[in-house]
Amino acid sequence: VSIYTELATPAVIIDLDRMENNISQMSARLAECGIGHRPHIKSHKSVAIAAKQLQAGAIGITVAKLSEAEVFVDAGITSIMIAYAIVGADKLARFAALHGKAELIVTVDSLHAAEGLAGVGAETGKPVRAVVEIDGGLHRGGRQPGADALSFALAVNAMQGIEVVGIMGYFGTIYSNTDEQGFIEATRRESAVIGETAELFRQNGLSVEVVSTGSSPASIMCRQLDGISEVRAGNYIFFDASGVGMGLAKEEDCALRVIATVISTPLPGRATIDAGTKTLTSDKAHHREGFGIVVGRPELTITGLNEEHGFLQFNPGTAPLCIGDRIEIIPNHSCVLPNLCDRVAGVRGGRLEEWISVDARGCNY
Ligand SMILES: Cc1ncc(COP(=O)(O)O)c(C=O)c1O
Repeated sequence: VSIYTELATPAVIIDLDRMENNISQMSARLAECGIGHRPHIKSHKSVAIAAKQLQAGAIGITVAKLSEAEVFVDAGITSIMIAYAIVGADKLARFAALHGKAELIVTVDSLHAAEGLAGVGAETGKPVRAVVEIDGGLHRGGRQPGADALSFALAVNAMQGIEVVGIMGYFGTIYSNTDEQGFIEATRRESAVIGETAELFRQNGLSVEVVSTGSSPASIMCRQLDGISEVRAGNYIFFDASGVGMGLAKEEDCALRVIATVISTPLPGRATIDAGTKTLTSDKAHHREGFGIVVGRPELTITGLNEEHGFLQFNPGTAPLCIGDRIEIIPNHSCVLPNLCDRVAGVRGGRLEEWISVDARGCNY
């Protein structure tokens, strides 16, 4: 089987029709609910792709790291939420440089970080706009919803040089669901938790312009969101084997794929491909075994990966794989793959259309 013969394997491809469809569906869904979209660009790290999201109606972008923000601000995309704690003098100096050039919203969850940011606002004479992060259940950061978030928000708002403009949360535990009802209930809970704390902020005189929540699952379920001004869905642009495993997406929605070549057939029922963890990563999928879906070949399982080798297993009685055959893989977690390539191949109708630069590749600092 020979597919995408113009590409050297392993190749990360983005099916442009599928991606554009994912963008327009999300944008239509959110517009219908009157909710803004500030997509997390960690999934693609590409200026050209962010431009497509903005063209489809996104109100800005979300990044995790300052270095990502630096790349996008340089490219002229200036409405950015930095959804990550800014800690350390080196980070504050870089934040200050960006603050002068862009419309940043930054999340805070500690007085330490807030004091640093307030210093930048005081020095530059342009107050830093901050949203208080609440812990959405992952316990990786954020204030506890309710009284803890409120007293923290009031303390931050009292500082010179920083103003609290709202609230944000990331409720990653939603990924433990596997059916529509589960996603609906989790989205309602997410909306209620963030909405109650937002209300508490308002009752205590804080301005709550921004109420930001939403992973891809919660954004898909946006009809269940109430009082949310914007969501940050990122993964929806590609989906992946996790999304398929959770029943959130179908295989045909998965826009980012890997083309790999069979390079060895050491035993009956075994074949080795040229894609390992350096292409597919070792991330597991939610609710799915193996290291990716082999498109159109459900009898093949990717059972393991070394750095540059992928191990396929299948019933030796079935049609064998031959050396040189190419397969198409939907990876377990698409968001981590573009960061491993200099460029990805934009394909349409089974052919290369354009190379897409991963502009913020490696910008994890
Ligand atoms: C803070 C934050 N916001 C938004 C997102 C996007 O969520 P998803 O990848 O489900 O679209 C993430 C993903 O990790 C995140 O960490």
